Amino acid sequence: FDAVDVIRAKRDRHELTDPQIDWVIDAYTRGAVADEQMSALAMAILLNGMTHRETARWTTAMIASGERLDFSSLRSSSGGPRPTADKHSTGGVGDKITLPLAPLVAVFGVAVPQLSGRGLGHTGGTLDKLESIPGWRASLTNAEMMAQLNDVGAVVCAAGAGLAPADKKLYALRDVTGTVEAIPLIASSIMSKKIAEGTGALVLDVKVGSGAFMKDEESARELAQTMVALGQDAGVHTVALLTDMGTPLGLTAGNAIEVEESLEVLAGGGPEDVVGLTVRLAEEMLEGAGVQGDPAAALRDGRAMDVWRHMIAAQGGDPDAPLPVAKESDTVYAPADGVLVGLDALSVGVAAWRLGAGRARKEDAVQAGAGVRLHAKPGAVVRAGEPLMTLLTDTPERFSRAREALEGAVTIAPEGSRPAQRLILDRI
Ligand code: URA
Repeated sequence: FDAVDVIRAKRDRHELTDPQIDWVIDAYTRGAVADEQMSALAMAILLNGMTHRETARWTTAMIASGERLDFSSLRSSSGGPRPTADKHSTGGVGDKITLPLAPLVAVFGVAVPQLSGRGLGHTGGTLDKLESIPGWRASLTNAEMMAQLNDVGAVVCAAGAGLAPADKKLYALRDVTGTVEAIPLIASSIMSKKIAEGTGALVLDVKVGSGAFMKDEESARELAQTMVALGQDAGVHTVALLTDMGTPLGLTAGNAIEVEESLEVLAGGGPEDVVGLTVRLAEEMLEGAGVQGDPAAALRDGRAMDVWRHMIAAQGGDPDAPLPVAKESDTVYAPADGVLVGLDALSVGVAAWRLGAGRARKEDAVQAGAGVRLHAKPGAVVRAGEPLMTLLTDTPERFSRAREALEGAVTIAPEGSRPAQRLILDRI
């Protein structure tokens, strides 16, 4: 094979053959296809698309570039095989759902192997949030992960380098060549990692709106359908929910402040949207795993909190240690009386990022205490001069750029107005 022939084929809108796809992924992983060739191919795919058959083969080839985990040795309390379930969110602002969800699902005897990532850009990363807990570590060996799944039932850790190495290389390339936003490439990237991870059931939370990758419902639906089909083909019980990311989830966007909010949910309280989505995703994961249970009750009665404490301690974290607090704060006030009908997710996400909750480059450190705390959500009646948000950082010179990001983020309408409030848009 020749890389230029493969690029020309996709450029001229031909369907790539299975051997072409297998070869190009393998050769790229080995370094025999150059970055500039793969970036030309990625751009041709972005512009001309891939058929379902091509996307499925692309995914299989990326899985084959690395190792596959095997959870079949996990045992349930009755001695039978233990079901596994995982959740993946396409990323949003204030999306801390993994934190209460993983221990909650484990309450019912389902093993939850939650391989997670770090934030880049305006969306936060689950590992960055958990690293604000003193002592907690994200990196586990495969053996440590298996042991924790057996003992605790839930693990949230960094994906090891062995899973889908082709994707790791390709994703970094797409990030710098304007080729992230291709549905076949996003779907195969996410699903190759989830299938290689070996989960039995998978629930996808595909975000729609300003704070999401997919800004409109139509493209989110297409991404969801593509991923569900890839999962089903691979024998993974896969379901997707389309959920709103026009406004942040919950009342916090940051790291330690999102852990704090997750603890409220695990203690039976917390914001209604975070609780509602956590419970709904847990129900979907249990159904996918073929297990009965009442997740809302397990939040209220402390069983999910017990698993959380074990899960954090198993990774070196102290569940009782005070969380880091930002050194400086600044308040944003409501500009008028009325009903808050809009609080833009992207603006809040960018503000939290600029305050230090996220990173500009992969190698940057994040601030544990930084972020945005919301005092009102869409639907609330507000009065001019009332606090709407608190901006948090250790480095006060960041306040002005965060405030710039928030210009136009708040929409207040006359009393009696109602915001569009649908959290779960569809199930696929
Ligand atoms: N997340 C991934 O893992 N891959 C993508 O391509 C986009 C989001």
